[in-house]
Amino acid sequence: MKLAIAGKGGSGKTSISGTMARLLARGGQRVLAIDGDSNPNLALTLGIPAERMGDMPTLPSDLLRRTAAGTELTQSLEQIKASHSVTGPDGVDLLVMAHPQHANTGCLCQMHATVRTIIDAVSNDGRDVCILDTEASPEHLSRGTAIYADALLAVVEPYFKSLETGRRMAVLAQDLGLERVALVANKIRDEREEDAVRAFAAKHDIEVGGLVPFDECFITAERASEAPLDHAPDAAAILAIDEIAHRWAGVGVGNGRA
Ligand SMILES: Nc1ncnc2c1ncn2[C@@H]1O[C@H](COP(=O)(O)OP(=O)(O)O)[C@@H](O)[C@H]1O
Ligand SMILES: [Mg+2]
Repeated sequence: MKLAIAGKGGSGKTSISGTMARLLARGGQRVLAIDGDSNPNLALTLGIPAERMGDMPTLPSDLLRRTAAGTELTQSLEQIKASHSVTGPDGVDLLVMAHPQHANTGCLCQMHATVRTIIDAVSNDGRDVCILDTEASPEHLSRGTAIYADALLAVVEPYFKSLETGRRMAVLAQDLGLERVALVANKIRDEREEDAVRAFAAKHDIEVGGLVPFDECFITAERASEAPLDHAPDAAAILAIDEIAHRWAGVGVGNGRA
């Protein structure tokens, strides 16, 4: 299963992507996490120590070559992982699309194309999971970076601008032809907020792919520079993400709708 995680800035994309990746890897899946944010911080949520961030490899810009049919990778996915990924706790492999090390270095079109082709190269074997953590803008959809994902989860908070951003991303993903598109409600504090998300989703005919409660564990994990999963493995939000991860990866628990 190949999942793209989108949504407004701060909605919780990275927290959910990273925690899902760890939980699925822990459950025996082979997980490739791709940090597609040009301001990457998925590593920390995966539990890769901050000290390793400085020398984190990013994808080089020469991994694609043109062919008559379009483009292809110049190396196999296994070679790319061997030379450009970092393996974190639970065996999650992390590829980082780009890092803003220098100002004024131009656009990331080539890197978006590279990530798109890498996602295509991930096998459809049931054991393989690829999770793309995207940036807040709809770039990954307008550039087609997420086109080879099987599903898009748009993470939304229970207020209008966040819901509306999620809806726009859902529409773009449907335009791209992604098979399944859903909203994941995050930071839900009470029934009234849950109802607001469900009513919005129903009005726009978008599936609700799961609910994650507001949980202090994310804030205290950040303060402690720990992955949420390591900091508070039994927190309600972690259990909710576990359920969503397994439902969307097509394995284990769930398979019903939230
Ligand atoms: N369910 C939640 N409850 C409380 N805080 C959360 C929750 N999910 C994420 N956060 C916090 O919200 C902030 C933004 O989360 P992040 O995952 O970085 O968002 P994004 O990747 O969408 O920009 C972080 O401080 C994170 O700890
Ligand atoms: Mg993020």
